[in-house]
Amino acid sequence: MDAYKINKIERCSGISEKEFYNKFVKKSIPVVICDKAKWVFSEKCTPEYFKKNYNHVTKVVNGTKHSLSEIIELCQNSTPTNKAPYPNIYDIPKHFPEYLDLIPKILFGKSNRIFSKLLPNIIASRNNQIEFFFGGYGCSFPYLHIDYNWVHTQLTQVIGEKDFILYPPSQTKYLYPDKDAPNKSPVNIINPDYEKYPEFKNAKSVKVTLKPGETIFIPSGWWHTTYIHNFNLTFAVDHVNKYNWNTFLNKNYDVAKKHIPKVAWSLKIYKVIFGTIFNIKEFLFNKLK
Ligand SMILES: [Fe+2]
Repeated sequence: MDAYKINKIERCSGISEKEFYNKFVKKSIPVVICDKAKWVFSEKCTPEYFKKNYNHVTKVVNGTKHSLSEIIELCQNSTPTNKAPYPNIYDIPKHFPEYLDLIPKILFGKSNRIFSKLLPNIIASRNNQIEFFFGGYGCSFPYLHIDYNWVHTQLTQVIGEKDFILYPPSQTKYLYPDKDAPNKSPVNIINPDYEKYPEFKNAKSVKVTLKPGETIFIPSGWWHTTYIHNFNLTFAVDHVNKYNWNTFLNKNYDVAKKHIPKVAWSLKIYKVIFGTIFNIKEFLFNKLK
């Protein structure tokens, strides 16, 4: 299947790690994995559990500090005409470490370089995100984007349903990437301004609605945004492996060049040497498995 001509996102159950890599990761094709997150149906994944056990977690929204219960209530009462703030993002290792063991394993183990000790802190601290997103009816991600530094992302739906609208990398020419932030598009895809962005008429997207217990894999470089239908919680994890390693390091280099130009070049050397080390490690691991 050509990654740039897909018109439907496949749903899979019982897929092996090898099959997942060969069919989707290697070919940069998004997929929904249906059976790797049954834990979302436990009592740990209810609004009541979060309110009872994590109300000490706070977030400042529009200058006001909110407890987690307040954020959850705002999201539960959200409507398209009176939307809750979005996105409400929380760092899981910092605030909700008990959920770390629940990460769907399909993309993890030795293949995720982003959590490796071989990744320097300066890169890891900016990129290795594991997050909860709380939202409500009518909320949508504020812009169409590619994930930061072209990481792959896997998102598991915990509560509620969420639409994912995706555009393959081949559609970039129709999406008017921002000059200063080339992973962001200024086009409002729900109500596009065709006078300002006439090429957007040619852009082809693919949409899927993620339900509780399902995990979507969004490959590096795919544009995406979301729309929410009801009270909502999603678990997001970033991923770097050999298929997006070079792009990931090149994007980090571009950022470093702007802020710490004297040492940015070292990322180019790191990319080659450690890319080789990771390749060998992963090859041996797969052989021994
Ligand atoms: Fe994203």
